[in-house]
Amino acid sequence: MGKTIAISNQKGGVGKTTTSVNLASSLSYMGKKVLLIDIDHQANATTYMGINRANLKYTIADIFVNEVPIREVVKSVESVKVDIVPARFELSSIENKLLKNDNKEYLLSNAIDEIKHDYDYILIDCPPSLGIITMNGLIAADSVLIPVQCEFLALDGLTQLLNTIRLIQNKQRYNNRTLKIEGVLLTMLDTRSNIGYEVINEVKKYFKEKVFKTIIPRNVKCSVAPSYGLPVTEFSPRSKGSISYQNLAKEVVNGIG
Ligand SMILES: Nc1ncnc2c1ncn2[C@@H]1O[C@H](COP(=O)(O)OP(=O)(O)OP(=O)(O)O)[C@@H](O)[C@H]1O
Ligand SMILES: [Mg+2]
Repeated sequence: MGKTIAISNQKGGVGKTTTSVNLASSLSYMGKKVLLIDIDHQANATTYMGINRANLKYTIADIFVNEVPIREVVKSVESVKVDIVPARFELSSIENKLLKNDNKEYLLSNAIDEIKHDYDYILIDCPPSLGIITMNGLIAADSVLIPVQCEFLALDGLTQLLNTIRLIQNKQRYNNRTLKIEGVLLTMLDTRSNIGYEVINEVKKYFKEKVFKTIIPRNVKCSVAPSYGLPVTEFSPRSKGSISYQNLAKEVVNGIG
């Protein structure tokens, strides 16, 4: 049965989507069956994977509001042998519609239950918020991977995410599930400046053994690859960014360390 990992941090631009896309392709390269679910209305994961959003019959919004079966929404990304549930801008307007639904926090979890057995890993690329859509992502997940950018104010706002995780754990207490922290991933390290290393020390002091040994460096190939609709692992397999994400995939499969 697939392990479901939400990639989440409500701070914007910390590398959630870059991590989702490259972890998905690296896990696939290791022979794992992977499904990537885009639950961000910015639809960056969908674009980074080279999917033309205009031609989509269904998107994640149809799972949330139209009860379209998830199998009908899944698309294959041939270049990296990853399946994806794509998103599009219409996701931004559904929060209000969901408020009336009693089951509103469990819609994604229920959809994933239908296909959990088809995959080894299901990754959820969350938006930079803690609204109802992110709640769906976290409740559907077995664990959360938290990307933290090696920059000033890196830990800002993380308390809110940790409180949300605790809230979900309390809700789950009666149904034999507990949302775990998969790990904290340090991203976009600029090796030429001191601030990055200060953030690493601070994060390690706080999260201890929960910090992935792999640190993702700032690497221009990571930021260029999406414009070619490819993960960096495919666009530039030997780049530092690509190798780091492959190392991260090994840590996810084997456990941190
Ligand atoms: N290791 C890296 N090296 C260089 N650039 C990177 C790296 N990781 C991400 N970027 C760039 O930083 C920007 C933000 O990354 P990304 O889209 O992954 O963040 P995000 O957390 O998903 O953002 P959002 O909160 O808007 O969803 C993008 O332009 C991306 O290409
Ligand atoms: Mg993103």
